[in-house]
Formats: sequence, C-alpha cells, structure tokens
Amino acid sequence: MNASSSSPDDPARASSISDPARASSISDPARASSISDPARASSISDPARAYALDLLDFIGQSPSPWHATASAVQRLHAAGYQALQERDAWQLVAGGRYYVVRGGSSLIAFVAGMAAPAEAGFRLVGAHTDSPGLRLKPHAAHLNGGFLRLGVEVYGGPILATFTDRDLGLAGRVHLRAPVAADAAAVLLTVRSPVVRLPNLAIHMNREVNEQGLKLHRQNELHLLFATENAGREGAFHHWVAQQLQCDPANVLGVELQVCDVQPGVLWGGRQEFIASSQLDNLACTHAGLCALLSVQQPDHTAVAAFFDHEEVGSESAVGAAGSFFSDVLARISEALGAHGSDAARARAHSLFLSADMAHAWHPNFPAAYEPQHHLRINAGPAIKYNASQRYATDGAGAARFMQWCEGAGVPWQSYVHRSELGCGSTIGPLVAARLGIPTVDVGAPMWAMHSLRESAGALDSYWLHLAMARALQSG
Ligand code: CO
Repeated sequence: MNASSSSPDDPARASSISDPARASSISDPARASSISDPARASSISDPARAYALDLLDFIGQSPSPWHATASAVQRLHAAGYQALQERDAWQLVAGGRYYVVRGGSSLIAFVAGMAAPAEAGFRLVGAHTDSPGLRLKPHAAHLNGGFLRLGVEVYGGPILATFTDRDLGLAGRVHLRAPVAADAAAVLLTVRSPVVRLPNLAIHMNREVNEQGLKLHRQNELHLLFATENAGREGAFHHWVAQQLQCDPANVLGVELQVCDVQPGVLWGGRQEFIASSQLDNLACTHAGLCALLSVQQPDHTAVAAFFDHEEVGSESAVGAAGSFFSDVLARISEALGAHGSDAARARAHSLFLSADMAHAWHPNFPAAYEPQHHLRINAGPAIKYNASQRYATDGAGAARFMQWCEGAGVPWQSYVHRSELGCGSTIGPLVAARLGIPTVDVGAPMWAMHSLRESAGALDSYWLHLAMARALQSG
C-alpha cells in the first residue's frame, strides 16, 4: 500500500484534486434523478464522456491486433506523422513525428526530441494491441453431424463461457496472392454481423452448470457453428471468405481470423458512469497512450508510444515486447539523431518507461478475491501495480514519478497488489525493463471481468490514465 499521506483510498483526497473535469464529474444526485434520459443524467464530465465515446469508437474499429494497429496508424497519419520502414535508412529531424509498424500488429510512434537522446533521454509509454479470444485454425472448416463448423485455437486466457450464446463476427487479415509474384498482400477483413455461434448446452443436459461453472473442452466443444451441411463442402468457408473480399478464391492463400463481438461498446449505468466493451484489456491503454502521444508538443526528450502484439501469449515473438522491435527502434532513433559510441546506452540510462495494462477493480460481489488493503475503486483513478516478484516492474522511485505526473495532471491514483496466495498476471513492463535496462512503472485503469468477451470498467479511469500518460510524455 502506498504512503498514507498520498493514499488514494481516501475519497476526500481524490475529489479534492483541482482537475476541472474532476470538479464537474459528480453531479447533484437529486438533479440527476429528475432527468428521464439516462444519457443526460451522466455523472461524468463532458470531456471525460467524449473521451470514453472516442475510446469505444477506437475499439469498434479495432476487432483484431492488426486492426488496432491500422486504427492507430490512421490517427497518426491524420496528425501528420510520417511512416518509416525498418528496411530503409532513416533520416530523422529534431521535432519530427514518425511511426514504424512491424508485422502489421505492433507499432512504435515517436516525436524526435529537440535535444539528442544521449542528452535528454526517452520518455516511453507502452501497451498491447492483442486480446484473448478464439482464433480460427488454418483448415478451420469441417463437416460434422450435418453442420459446417469452424475449428478454433484458444489465444491467451479468455473466459471461454463468455463466448457462448453471443452474436459473434470474424475479424483479422487475409493473405492474397500478390498480383506480381513477390510478397503476398495482406488485407484486413471485418465481418461485423453474427456469422458464427457457440450455443450452450441446455441446462437439462448440464444440470450442474450453475454450481460447477461452465466447462468447455478446448478441442471438442469450441467448434463454431457456421452453416448446415446444405451450404456445401468444406471449401464453402474458403469461398465465403473470398466473397467477403470480392476476390477469386484461388487468390486466398491464408486466413488469420479471430472471433469478435458484434455488439458495440456502450456507456452504462443509471448515471452512465461505466463502460462496457470487448477488448478493454488492453485497447483502453493503447488508446490512452496514443491520445497521450498525440497531445505532445516539442519536448527536449524523445517521446515514444509503443504498442505490441502477443502480450496475451507471453510476448516472445518478432513483434512482441520480448522481441527486438523496441530495442531496434530506440537504437535507430539514437543513431539517426547523431549518436556515437556509448550515446545509445546513455540515452537509455536517463529514460523511463510507463507500461500501461488494465488492472483488477474491486468487485463488491466477490470481496474475498482481493487483497483487503489494496482495493481498486472504479472511477477513482489509475492504479500503480506492485509485485515483489517483479511480475510488475514498478519500484518505489518509479511509482513516485508516476504520482507526480498524476498530481501535475490533476489525476488521483491508487495502488494495487494481488492477493498473496494467488498467481499474479504480468505485463510487458518487466520484459521491457529487463531487455532495455530502463526503469519501468506498471500502471493501468481498473476494470471488471478481465478477459471476458464483454469487459467493463469506469468511464473516467482511462480518461485520467491518458492525462497522466500525456504528462509523462510531455514533462518527463
Ligand atoms: Co492486458
């Protein structure tokens, strides 16, 4: 738990912070209850509400990590950022704005500092673009019992039960035969209508489901229903994919699709103070980091936002946070801005990484699941995550920096520790800290139902998180 003088567990303290958004965030309950339209009775400020709606738009456009990267690139382009290719030589200018994509699903964007990185260092924020779920196998379509079904692999650690009885679409990328030999071209595909389904077994055949929980065998019981056998042979799905892209089936070389929720995200609650959507973990933090970077004005240091795929499966890949992408890009930024000899190491030595990933909000129906002294309250500010075994990379010095960024931005904060007898999740923070040797702080916005297909959170916390991240990138 953090020092008592700065404890966020004191509501009086949190609400005394002089952020204008915060000041107007809690309306008079009497007034609110007299308004019949729940949207108009919102208890969060207009900027925070606009931010939450923008987050829902961002998630809506980003049903896969490839889409999330493309959505971020679209915003970077609109803000004048220039694309860099890893295979090219880079010529960077101080104050220039750039981004580089690896593998279509990881992205690093930055504002080149007015001073050389060896002199002013990097201020870095990061998050991940992937979310747990179900991914189609390469030969997904198969006939069984009169149905055309799609076989899936489980990606990461989803709550499988939340995928049942929902309207499910498909999203990802499809690799087409390139018109002129060379590389195959990848195109994004989003099917946002309910095309597949995972119906539950009736309770009459699964009498214990409410006492035992829903158990689904990963190989046998997760096949998605797509059509009856009348729809054709196994090739029917391949043709259907080609049809979605209006191309010749012979030109479809590979399909990387995952299940997505077709239901748009919403603000909810009697006072519209909560948010619900798929992929809040971790697109809420990716969106926050992106918005933070887009707000940065010409600092001396180089401000960087990095978003990685494959966090949910351990990050060990060419595009993951445990791969070389981050270190390659930082080294090349230093070099392109004039580094020699030990300059790149000097740059890292006065840098700091803020690793943002969602955190576990206290759930009033399950009080025993939480460390009693470290409850994260919804809409009470971002969490600083601590773990003595370094599953979170935060140390006291880094936490103190984050607290000051929060104070500077008028944002309350909280402290999180997992229950001692439960295994703690991890983030990209410790991986980046170890590989780059850069002090790291793990933070995140509190949420419920992490890894459900329909996660929920406070509508205010990611707004606050982005203000703190912007402060980190701007002021250093
Ligand atoms: Co996460």
